[in-house]
Amino acid sequence: MRKLIIANWKLNPLTLASAQQLAASVGSSKHEVVICPPSAFLAQIKVPILGAQDCFWKLKGPFTGETSPAQLKDLGVRYCIIGHSERRALGETDDMVAAKLQALLEQGITPVLCVGFGTTVGEDKLDVTEALRPQLDSALRDTDPKKVVVAYEPVWAIGTGKPATSEHAEQIALFIKTKYGIEKVLYGGSVNGVNAQEFLSQNHIDGLLVGSNSLIPDEFNKIITS
Ligand code: 13P
Repeated sequence: MRKLIIANWKLNPLTLASAQQLAASVGSSKHEVVICPPSAFLAQIKVPILGAQDCFWKLKGPFTGETSPAQLKDLGVRYCIIGHSERRALGETDDMVAAKLQALLEQGITPVLCVGFGTTVGEDKLDVTEALRPQLDSALRDTDPKKVVVAYEPVWAIGTGKPATSEHAEQIALFIKTKYGIEKVLYGGSVNGVNAQEFLSQNHIDGLLVGSNSLIPDEFNKIITS
């Protein structure tokens, strides 16, 4: 089945030449593969589907350092990650994430809403859903959930080499779909070429959000051919 696999390069690599080389190393896949390079390189990366890692909630004006969803649209960006735990850790609030989500929808860019920050309790299903609820309630208020992709990224699984179990990710994906009417839920957190297949074979996991291993061509190509 065709799934959605998103590469989040985060603040890597350091030069445009390396970024272009990395983009060129992405092989073909039966899945929909989206590459999210750092914003500085967005205009010069050639990939079939381009994504962004963040945006601002206003289109233009006196907002030094920000990136407008309208500018992303002009560059051909089709997906934009918002609410990543690494941004929430820098002070981004649920209200900011909600405003970004609306601004993206107005530009016709699909928001990839990350939830999971604050979840320190490993795989206790009840505690996890309680932690996710305020993030989802706030961002999805007055929104057509069918236009939003949600990525469940338990913070304890990000960059640790300790992924959630596929059963846990599947339970949370089902919760997000049934409670919020979301149609596409991705899993992210220590996905690699070996465990990707296990996540992708779950009924309610519609794809993956990949960090570290999207920077390693062999590993990423294994993931997208899973
Ligand atoms: P890792 O794949 O490095 O755990 O990162 C996941 C992530 O944060 C993707 O957005």
